Parts: sequence; structure tokens; C-alpha cells
Amino acid sequence: MTLLVTGGAGFIGSNFVLEWAAQSDETIINLDKLTYAGNLENLSSLQGQSKHVFIQGDIGDAACVSALLAQYRPRAVLNFAAESHVDRSIHGPGEFIQTNIQGTFQLLECVRAYWGALDSDAQAAFRLLHVSTDEVYGSLGKTDPAFTENHRYEPNSPYSASKAASDHLVRAYHHTYGLPVLTTNCSNNYGPYHFPEKLIPLMIVNAQAGKALPVYGDGQQIRDWLYVLDHCSAIRRVLEAGRPGETYNIGGWNEKPNLEIVHTVCSLLDELKPRADGKPYQEQISYVTDRPGHDRRYAIDASKIERELGWKPAETFASGIRKTVCWYLDHPQWVANVQSGAYRDWLNQQYGSTP
Ligand code: NAD
Ligand code: DAU
Repeated sequence: MTLLVTGGAGFIGSNFVLEWAAQSDETIINLDKLTYAGNLENLSSLQGQSKHVFIQGDIGDAACVSALLAQYRPRAVLNFAAESHVDRSIHGPGEFIQTNIQGTFQLLECVRAYWGALDSDAQAAFRLLHVSTDEVYGSLGKTDPAFTENHRYEPNSPYSASKAASDHLVRAYHHTYGLPVLTTNCSNNYGPYHFPEKLIPLMIVNAQAGKALPVYGDGQQIRDWLYVLDHCSAIRRVLEAGRPGETYNIGGWNEKPNLEIVHTVCSLLDELKPRADGKPYQEQISYVTDRPGHDRRYAIDASKIERELGWKPAETFASGIRKTVCWYLDHPQWVANVQSGAYRDWLNQQYGSTP
């Protein structure tokens, strides 16, 4: 039995692959383009294990995807591959349209052809699981109920619009062709191997480097935070028992304003790695220009996956964020390795010379 995972060298994909390999003997074929966000170092513990096969390639390359499907005959395809950073989508949406929309379309076409040629038992057992985001639902007011699966799509950034388009394509391939698809819409993840351009790892890395901690606008934007391995366990559960054609919201019931997140990271660092001058890391907070079109609040209603599939997160935010800060403190070399020239170019483009 084999799974084809796309984007398995990124943050969530690599956590998923590592967890899967720890729990199963099923082979994973990992197709990843290795953009700036893909990092094979995340998977170094799997080196030499035949149950993980890495292929550098693009989900939009139909010849490559079709050849992999024909060679490895997977029982499922899990699509993690995407351009994932909202700020980058604001500076340059083109790659997001290319990978998230065009790439997903090509992947769907290849999978449809492969699935169509399977025998009826294999067709019935096959799944395509598309990993998506809560951002497709748009922004909530302070007292609005959390997003359910029936919330209308109102994406506000080029990133979320491109993910929304990919979700619609996946849905259409089920409705039109009967492809057995599953879609998951998850809230903000955090944890090991998170690229330090996103809020939590950026704060951990900048704080230790004595740099400014850039908080957009008033810092009162709200996100729902989920430890990455809880997202992975939810995906495993949806793959195992989700109903084809259905979408499942995944979240931690854990809404927090950004400023509270930054304060929590600072307090943990004060405890675990105090500043040499004894002053609190909070002193490094710097309010910077807000993200254009910044969504004010996301909140996920995860009752469907809890009720239908019996999934629940294992970590609280307190336990998950402590593990995360400890992981970064324990892996300075990983951080140093991702802070390449390209990473520095991004910081300059986004924050100027300040942080
Ligand atoms: P990431 O940016 O860390 O990793 C994306 C991976 O996809 C990288 O390894 C990259 O090399 C690869 N990739 C990019 N374009 C590709 C292409 N054309 N072909 C093959 N591989 C390609 O992203 P992430 O945070 O791990 O997110 C994974 C998925 O989960 C995305 O679909 C994202 O929209 C979704 N998601 C992320 C979060 C989050 O908080 N990070 C929350 C909900 C949903
Ligand atoms: O909600 C799920 C989404 O979460 C995923 O679909 C995306 O792939 C993922 O990147 C994430 O998007 P966000 O835009 O919410 O994540 P980010 O870490 O970029 O920002 C989190 C919040 O922190 C957001 O309100 C913007 C703010 N922020 C971010 C950065 C990088 C800051 O205030 N300062 C910063 O420097």
C-alpha cells in the first residue's frame, strides 16, 4: 500500500510524513518542488528508509504526476503542496495562482485519469485528500459564530482566493466525475519545522537574535491556533473515515489575539532563555504597518469532525506552545540553515531593515 503526498517537505507536510513513517509501514511517495519553503532537512531522519521515496517535482507537471501514479499505484493522494504565505501573496500573487489553482487542476486531471482506470474495488477505496485553510471563509466580526463547513466562501487575499479556487475545483471533480475527494479546512498551525516567516517562529527567532518583534497594526487580530501534530492526526482520521465529497473543518477551539501570542512567546523565552541583560523580551515588540486587507478574526467550529469522526486535539495551546519554543531552542542549526540569503531578502522586502 502506498500514499502519494505532495508538499511533504514543507511545514505541515513534513510533520505529517514523519508521523506517518513512525506509525505505519505503508510507503510514502513525497512529491515536492522544493520552493523556498520546502526543506529536505526536515526529513533527514528518514534517510535510507525505503518506505519514504522523495521526488523533486511540481504538482503542475502532468507528465511527472502521471508517471508517479502509474509507477507507484497509490491508494490515496494527499495534497499539501501550495504557496502558503499571505504576505508573499500580497507582494506577488502569480506563484499562488500557478501552484494553488493551476497546479491543483493538473493534479486533479492526472488523478482523475488514474482513478478512472482502476478496478471497481480500488476505485471505491481510493481517496484524494485536499488540505485547505479556514482563510477561504473570510473574516469574522467579534461576536460572529465560528466558521462551519456551510459558511460561505469569502476569501480576501490572493492566497485565500487561490486556495478557495482549488477547493472549488476539488469539489467539482467529485460532483462531476465522482472522484472520491475529501477536503479539510484548518486553522493556523504552529510547531516544529515552521518556516520563520510566519508569526510564531518569526517571534521566537527574532527575540533570540535581539531583533524587533514586528506586530501588524494593533495586534488585536484573532486567529485559532492548532498544534501541527493535531492537524496531522485529524488528516489521518479524515483519510481513514471521512465521507467522500465532504469537507471537514479542523481547529483547536483556541482563539487568541496576535499580541497575546507574542506575549506568550516572550514569557516562555524569559523563563527558558532569559535575555543577558535580564530585561523582558516584550521590550522588543514593535508595532509596524498593518497587512493590506488584513482579516480581523478567524474561528473554526470543529464540531463536525469531532462528532462524526471522533477527532479531538491532544495538545492545549499552553502545552503546544511550550513544546514549540523548546523545539526552536533545541534546534539552532535548523534555524541557522533556513536563514539563507533568500530568507534575508524576504525580511528586507517585508520589513525593511528594521527587524
Ligand atoms: P509550506 O509553505 O510550509 O510548505 C509548502 C510545501 O509545498 C513546500 O515544501 C513547497 O516546496 C511545496 N510546493 C510548493 N509549490 C509546489 C508545487 N508546485 N509542486 C510541489 N510542491 C510544491 O506550507 P504549510 O504551512 O506546510 O501548508 C501546507 C498546506 O496546508 C497548504 O496547502 C496550506 O494552504 C495548508 N494550510 C496551512 C496552514 C498553516 O497554518 N500553515 C493552515 C491551514 C492549511
Ligand atoms: O488560518 C490558516 C492560515 O494560517 C494558513 O492557511 C496559512 O497558510 C498560514 O500562513 C496562516 O496564515 P496567517 O496569515 O494567519 O499566518 P501568519 O503567521 O502569516 O500571521 C498570523 C497573524 O500574525 C496574522 O494576523 C498576521 C500577524 N503577523 C504576522 C507576521 C508574519 C504579524 O503581526 N507580524 C508578522 O510579522
